Amino acid sequence: MIKLVTVIGARPQFIKAAAISRAVNTSFSDEIEEIIVHTGQHYDSSMSNVFFNELQIPKEKYNLNIGSGSHALQTANMMIEIEKVVLEEKPDAILLYGDTNSTLSACLVAIKLHIPIIHVEAGVRGYNKRFPEEVNRLVCDHMSSLLFVPSIAGIKSLEIEGLKHKKNGDVISLDNPGVFHCGDIMYDNTLFYKEKIKNRLDSIFSKYDLPKENYILTTMHRPSNVDQNETLESILKALNQLIDSHGKTIVLPLHPRTKNRLDNQPELGPLLNNERLRIIPPVSFLEMIELEENSDLVITDSGGVQKEAYFLKKPCLIMLDETPWIELLESGNAILTGSDYNKIVNGANEFLKKGRLYEFMDMYGDGKASEFICQEIIKAFN
Ligand code: UD1
Ligand code: UDP
Repeated sequence: MIKLVTVIGARPQFIKAAAISRAVNTSFSDEIEEIIVHTGQHYDSSMSNVFFNELQIPKEKYNLNIGSGSHALQTANMMIEIEKVVLEEKPDAILLYGDTNSTLSACLVAIKLHIPIIHVEAGVRGYNKRFPEEVNRLVCDHMSSLLFVPSIAGIKSLEIEGLKHKKNGDVISLDNPGVFHCGDIMYDNTLFYKEKIKNRLDSIFSKYDLPKENYILTTMHRPSNVDQNETLESILKALNQLIDSHGKTIVLPLHPRTKNRLDNQPELGPLLNNERLRIIPPVSFLEMIELEENSDLVITDSGGVQKEAYFLKKPCLIMLDETPWIELLESGNAILTGSDYNKIVNGANEFLKKGRLYEFMDMYGDGKASEFICQEIIKAFN
């Protein structure tokens, strides 16, 4: 039996972990034992518990209750507690997802204790170190023993950095990592949960009395967009303009970082008064898929949401200046707008006028990335 300690802490990691836990429970429970550690980076029920309940993620054995803080404080506090767990559990490997501070802290603890790291969503690069995620990914990829890469672009990025795709039979170790192109576990999830929202009785539309059509779905939480009034104001003005010019509703499930900012900036209040700007609390994953699937357009700065828009064949404005998911831009499904008012308004006008212009391709795998990852873990650690 291979003993894995999975360290997760933020919303997208709960969702990603659900895909692998599902595969372990369904097909690999004789070979893999998974112990979940929740760092407590996200702690509101709507940012954490809701996903454990809805996606049937095994309950965490450890909750470190670290909470919010500066990068250094949060990462350091996590490291201290994660080290205790790793010393106690003595796992064969640590399983990590994505690029949050929870990922970084567990990675640093594991490598110092010579525990192999399995990094799911490796090779993702935005080439902008001002984003904390870029730093976290770079460190974690270069410390990992197994790197599972969702896209071909990621494989190429890792090759440039000297991390090469391994051939069958190569022995994997701390200094000889294995790089695998596996597809995207988020795609696994979208396909799996899309089926579950059919005929759902407790729909998000009745919960908040939202229109079932003729709306744009928006999310935003990047510090570069929401931590300064200037950028936040530009985005909110653009959203108001889209409501006025297209008669559409904007549905905005609000991330707590953004909520905190808006609560403390009364001067932005007038931009929130439009009755067609429907700000709601963060929603569950099934509710999110429901909202994405029925929207006319997605406007987001979320890494996960921009891909889900593609998976569900919805055009997307990415409110960033770069994206690691360059396939989305190449496909014609997405446009980069940053927080620029004109780019958001013009991009939305273009998509709403012309509709979807691209051919859908399975460029993020076949929906079975999780099974592939489990099989490779078993080969490497058995
Ligand atoms: C974090 C990740 C980011 C990821 C995002 C997903 C890092 C550096 N950033 O950003 O990569 O895209 O999660 O959502 O790891 N807060 C609450 N309740 C909560 C959680 C947060 O009120 O349950 C508030 C706190 O005021 C906190 C702020 O949100 O200071 C930011 O939370 P934090 O986890 O530090 O960063 P995110 O912006 O959520
Ligand atoms: N999501 C959700 N509820 C919400 C907003 C997002 O379930 O209210 C899901 C979304 O569908 C995606 C993931 O959370 O699967 C993305 O997380 P987030 O945007 O917080 O982080 P990022 O992907 O940018 O790191």
